[in-house]
Amino acid sequence: MGKGSGFGKVILFGEHFVVHGVPGIVSAIDSTADAEVRRTKKGITIVDERKGSKGYAEEKKAQQLESIDRILKAMEIEPKTVSFRILLGGNLPGFSGLGASAASSVAIARAIAQELGKKWSDERINEIAYEAEKAYAGTPSGIDNTAATYGGLLWFMKNMNGGHNTIEKLRIRKPVEIIIGSTGIVANTKAMVAGVAERKQKYPEKYDVLFEQAEGLALIARKALLAFDLKKVGELMNENHRLLQEISVSCEELDYLVDLARKHGAFGAKLTGGGGGGCMTALTPTKELQEAVATAIEKEGYEVLRTKIGVERI
Ligand code: MEV
Repeated sequence: MGKGSGFGKVILFGEHFVVHGVPGIVSAIDSTADAEVRRTKKGITIVDERKGSKGYAEEKKAQQLESIDRILKAMEIEPKTVSFRILLGGNLPGFSGLGASAASSVAIARAIAQELGKKWSDERINEIAYEAEKAYAGTPSGIDNTAATYGGLLWFMKNMNGGHNTIEKLRIRKPVEIIIGSTGIVANTKAMVAGVAERKQKYPEKYDVLFEQAEGLALIARKALLAFDLKKVGELMNENHRLLQEISVSCEELDYLVDLARKHGAFGAKLTGGGGGGCMTALTPTKELQEAVATAIEKEGYEVLRTKIGVERI
C-alpha cells in the first residue's frame, strides 16, 4: 500500500490574477488531504471519505476522475493498464476555496509513487499535481498544487512562457491566527477562471487597470507581511476583496461573511480561492479575536475553520 498527503491552503492575495502572471501570496494550512492506494484487479476505484459541503463530492466526481487520468499520464502510465483502489480522507474539508482538489491530487500522486516504489522529489510531485489541477481549474496558475506540495507561506508567480514558476518561501515573525468561513456553496473553479479570462478579453481597459492594481497590492502585501505590519496586511486584504468584487468573482454570501468578520474586529477579510461561493478568510491575529469572529460567523449558521498562516512546513 502507498500513502501520501497534501496541504490545504488559503490564498491571502491574488487569486484569479495569478492565472495571468500577477504574483500571489498563499499559505498552507494545518489540514491535509490523505490518500491510500492499494493495487486491485478492477480498474480505478475511488472511495472518498472526506467531509465537506453538501454535494461537493458528487459535483467534483467527473473532474476527480479526469484528474486521476491526468496524474497517471503525467507519470507516463497508461490509465487502462493499472488497477488501484484509492481511499481519500484527512482533516481538510471539501469546501470550495481551500485547495481540496490540489491537496488530494498531491496526496494521490505521492501515494501512487510510493506504491510503485518511486522516490520522486517534491518538484516532480508538484508537476504531476499541476497536470491534475487542469481537470479542476481548466487553466490553473499552479498556486494551489504548489502550496499543497511544499506547505508554508509562499510568494508565487506563474511563468507565462512555460518556464519555471517563481516560488519563494516567506518567513514571518510568528504564525498568525486566521479564520476561514465557508458559504457552503460548491463552486466550479473551472467556470470561474474561464469567466475572468472572458471578461478580461471583453473589457481590456477596465481589466488592465484592475490587474495593475492587483500586482501593486501583492508587492506591498509582501512587504507588510515581512515587516509583520498586520494592520496593513488586513487593510490590503480588504482592498484585494474589492478587486475581486470588481472582476465579478464574489457573491452575496461571501460579501456578507466578509462584512460580518470586519464588524467583529477582523483586521481584514476577503474571499479566498475561486469565489462564486466557497470560502472567505479573515485576519484575526489573537486567539480571542479569532474566537470572536469565528463564533459570530457560526451563529449565522456557517462552518468555520480556525487556523494559522505562516507555519513552517506544517
Ligand atoms: C483557486 O484556488 C485559485 C485560482 O486563482 C485558480 C488558480 O490560480 O489556479 C482561482
